[in-house]
Amino acid sequence: MELTQVIILGASGDLTARKLVPALFAAFQDGLYPHDIQLVGVARRPWDDVTFREHLAKNALLPKGADAAKWQTFLGNVKYVQTHLETAADFQALGTALEAAAGRPAHRVFYLAIKPELFLPSVQNLSLVGLLDQSTGLSRRVVVEKPFGMDLPSAQVLNGELLKILHENQLYRIDHYLGKETVQNLLVFRFRNAFFEPLWNQKYVENVQITVAETVGMEGGRGGYYDGSGAIRDILQNHLLQLVALVAMEPPSSLKAKSIRDEKVKVLHALRSFEDMPDGGKHIVRGQFEGYRSEPGVRPDSDTETFIATRTFIDNFRWGGVPFLLRTGKHLPDRFTSITVQFRMPPHTLFGSYQECHLRPNRITLRIQPNEGISMGFEVKQPGQGLVIRPAQLDFGYNEQFPNQRNPDAYERLLMDVIAGDQALFIRSDEIEESWRWADSLRVAMQETPVHTYAKNTWGPKAADDLFGECEGRWVTG
Ligand code: BG6
Repeated sequence: MELTQVIILGASGDLTARKLVPALFAAFQDGLYPHDIQLVGVARRPWDDVTFREHLAKNALLPKGADAAKWQTFLGNVKYVQTHLETAADFQALGTALEAAAGRPAHRVFYLAIKPELFLPSVQNLSLVGLLDQSTGLSRRVVVEKPFGMDLPSAQVLNGELLKILHENQLYRIDHYLGKETVQNLLVFRFRNAFFEPLWNQKYVENVQITVAETVGMEGGRGGYYDGSGAIRDILQNHLLQLVALVAMEPPSSLKAKSIRDEKVKVLHALRSFEDMPDGGKHIVRGQFEGYRSEPGVRPDSDTETFIATRTFIDNFRWGGVPFLLRTGKHLPDRFTSITVQFRMPPHTLFGSYQECHLRPNRITLRIQPNEGISMGFEVKQPGQGLVIRPAQLDFGYNEQFPNQRNPDAYERLLMDVIAGDQALFIRSDEIEESWRWADSLRVAMQETPVHTYAKNTWGPKAADDLFGECEGRWVTG
């Protein structure tokens, strides 16, 4: 089997122990490696192979039911190379150490699990010593974590500089939401079933709402990072917009990366910029949880939003006029991500007046996490005299349907895809730029709106409820 070295830059950090190593190990344990894989940790700390292994043995969050013997075998193959990422001279030694560790020709994946300021210098240094050169036919890929830029101009600069060194097909911009099972299932659900797609447009859909709700706040010393980011940059511009793109895109002509990404980018391009909405601020509600300003690392006068909700539109033939209601926040009462598509009422009134808000429209909810699954809400006649109409639900749950199937972590799927060279679940440069274009316009329009404070463990500012028009429905809560 061919060999791929997975080289994690920033290997002493949290992401490596919490996500990357457990993901690689889970795939190893289940025999899912497409190649032989050698993991090489790279960081500034003066460690060697043994100290790095000890660090992982202590800190890695292993999957449930991890096989102890296999974990020892996995750890025994892990290598470490001390490198200062800003120091070009260290990279020559890194190259030599990688050759020695591999002992035979190897493909290489460089995973940048580092501060965004180090993305470009690291790639430049890798290139300087020839570590990104593919002329021998061995692949050299670079995985870039979020945040990819802070806004459109900085993302454009980063794209421009990286693409001077790398070809787009070497660059894997990661959004871990795309590795989640249910997110991938969106394509199957929409395009492999005949029921839904004919209804999936403005003719039948009244509105679509997407929530990424979190119960966590600034735990783990995240205040400093988060205060410079906020809910728009942390979740809305990336994870949430990726869900919008998948739920709203046209059918791709194939499952190839190009086809899927071409269709997603069209949706992002059609998202209505707040610059084109004179009353844009009316469609945005920002909030901050009580006590945020006293969190470690947060400025005492910070206006950073920990909650954002908005009503937006996709200006194309399929979705013209259909509101997309998007919401995310920290310290909410429940952790869940879901997409709910609400359908219009039938065109002719047989059962009571359709003007009344208590009539329940049909809805499909895609539960991205937790309790992954899909439910459909519709109406039935209650048995007995008269005509009493009651809600009923059809429910599909992954756990019930596939009780013995392991649900791999998003990073596992994505890492295996990088090794296999499949970019379908990674973000292309134009997608990144289109999503920043829209997110930047939202941030500008948001400046006109007040920062609402909300109590922890509530669903955010009340004003977010008014983003729904009269009788249009309301936010789901789980
Ligand atoms: C990260 C954000 O990208 O996603 C975090 O930086 C957030 O703030 C996390 O908590 C949510 O991911 P998941 O997979 O737990 O929904």
